[in-house]
Amino acid sequence: MTDLLNRTDRDITRAASLLRAGELVAFGTETVYGLGADAQNSSAVAAIFEAKGRPHFNPLICHYATPDAAFTHVQANPIAEKLADTFWPGPLTLVLPRRVTCPVALLAGAGLDTLAIRVPAHPIAQRLIAALGRPIAAPSANRSGRISPTTAAHVLAQLESRIAAVIDSGPCRVGVESTVLDLSGPTPFLLRPGGVSLESLQASIGEVRLGLTPGQAEAPRTLRSPGLLVSHYAPVLPLRINVTTLTPDEALLAFGPPLAGAGLIYQLSETENLNEAATRLFDGLHWLDEQGAALSLRGIAAMAVPRHALGLAINDRLERAAAGR
Ligand code: TXA
Ligand code: MG
Repeated sequence: MTDLLNRTDRDITRAASLLRAGELVAFGTETVYGLGADAQNSSAVAAIFEAKGRPHFNPLICHYATPDAAFTHVQANPIAEKLADTFWPGPLTLVLPRRVTCPVALLAGAGLDTLAIRVPAHPIAQRLIAALGRPIAAPSANRSGRISPTTAAHVLAQLESRIAAVIDSGPCRVGVESTVLDLSGPTPFLLRPGGVSLESLQASIGEVRLGLTPGQAEAPRTLRSPGLLVSHYAPVLPLRINVTTLTPDEALLAFGPPLAGAGLIYQLSETENLNEAATRLFDGLHWLDEQGAALSLRGIAAMAVPRHALGLAINDRLERAAAGR
């Protein structure tokens, strides 16, 4: 059984003591729900990989209460400090070289000499890290390869009885995962588009190298972010993207005025607002998958979404969800 906890101080204290005892607790962040373990406890970290069915070569993000706490475990540089000042707490993850003294379990970083760090903005995440008094290692709280959760119900649908507890933290505000930026090389490198747009990163630090879009991977860097190799975010029903016509047995993920002919529609954003569409993306995929299967539909068709601002992250998730099916 998985306990459903609330936002009371008593429940946060209970969640922190579960983590201290090496148990797994899912909790809300502003991006998606995370599946948390005490980052310094290797058997707890191992249990994350077990519960998710996640390959051990795919490293986890460590969540800290403050930038200062994060930078005691990695070697920061002026760009990292500038980004931390501008975007933390918030949906940005930085990959930096581990310090030799870093006490985070090696398994959390999949044995790499870098560590991904993030200071989340969500009050539940903040309170939980503070109550534990140590960083929390947390991937998204879904089974490996499946759709990320943006509500406690999504978490329970995939991980019920595999984890000790989930804290009902409400729906996630951003809705897509954090932007992952590798700062361990000479030029900042975008490993995953996410909740902080590429445009705002460029406005803050200038040049950002790109390249890791599905099907266009750069070998050495792909090996440095192994999670990006696999197809991901996949609903059970097959997904077609950038559609302009529908077949009769498809459900529609609409963006703006819906295509004609769909029996089952989930609207990402009537007004074509990319922030709203990002917030609703995973809920839409979860919902169409469930309802579509109940109606014996054969697939999900997604309308095109523009590739700027949060549209870059939305397209990345849709392309991965459609890949290799
Ligand atoms: O918004 C988010 O980032 C959520 C919330 C819970 O914080 N977490 C999340 O974790 O999306 P996950 O495990 O689903 O995705 C983390 C990504 C993976 O693609 C992983 O390969 C990459 O970050 N990553 C982690 N550590 C890395 C490292 N040291 N070097 C390169 N990539 C790394
Ligand atoms: Mg994930």
